[in-house]
Amino acid sequence: MHFICPLCHCGLVENTSGVSCASGHHFDRAKEGYLNLLPVQHKNSLAPGDAKAQLVARRQFLNAGFFSGLLPDLQTLVPASTQRLLDIGCGEGYFTHALAGLLPKDASVYGIDIARDGVRMAAKAYGESYAVASAYALPLATASMDVITRIYAPSDASELKRVLAPGGRVIVVTPAEEHLLGLRQRIYKVVRPHPEPGLLEGFTSVEQQRASFPLNIPAGELSAALLKMTPFAWKMDESLQQQLIATGIQDSADFYITVYVGESAQ
Ligand SMILES: C[S@@+](CC[C@H](N)C(=O)[O-])C[C@H]1O[C@@H](n2cnc3c(N)ncnc32)[C@H](O)[C@@H]1O
Ligand SMILES: [Zn+2]
Repeated sequence: MHFICPLCHCGLVENTSGVSCASGHHFDRAKEGYLNLLPVQHKNSLAPGDAKAQLVARRQFLNAGFFSGLLPDLQTLVPASTQRLLDIGCGEGYFTHALAGLLPKDASVYGIDIARDGVRMAAKAYGESYAVASAYALPLATASMDVITRIYAPSDASELKRVLAPGGRVIVVTPAEEHLLGLRQRIYKVVRPHPEPGLLEGFTSVEQQRASFPLNIPAGELSAALLKMTPFAWKMDESLQQQLIATGIQDSADFYITVYVGESAQ
């Protein structure tokens, strides 16, 4: 186990009801199998992260395969021999589980998210190690991960640096210019382009791929799910939302996948 105590940063060991550190801090394991490693003082609200309805919509949309076009690129960029992988902002676990499927059976795969409902859904459905935790204070041992993925989620460069093992890589997925452009054009008079993936302090980007594919979403619940999981779509007025749900949505998915290594690893 590579999780550490979020309070004193000592290693955690398993016991019957959860995990404990040498200083006596204890964290229960929930019945779905996840750990809550988010101390109250790291919570900026009562229920931080994505809301349950958004996570449920995301699961429905992802499980229908609409973003599976990202997986072949991820497969080429995540070394098949990876033994330790952390997925930051794992949400309901779709990509964490898909990434685990690319790795050796005995690999250790961790998913963390600040939204407890997401982590609960992930742990209930999938077998990786999930914890409620903040991307800004990762409860993972120093130099413990070979690959860290961050798919559409925030992070902190100094924490990435601390947790990444020597020779490891950080893989960041961000939306590119055409991502859901059709929807964005229906909401904004002037559509601002998504920013290019930024610099990550202390890292050098060594490779970038762009995954673009059409999204033909049938009318009904799947179109409703896309609108529900996409915060900017909430700005649409109700009648436009209903119209899109009735007609279906034709749009594009467009992502950058950027690989970073520690500057000293170059
Ligand atoms: C757009 S979702 C992406 C989820 C998942 N990676 C996927 O692609 O399905 C962004 C996720 O980041 C999580 N998140 C936001 N702020 C966070 C933080 N400070 N620490 C950890 N996770 C965070 C949200 O709860 C949400 O699940
Ligand atoms: Zn402790």
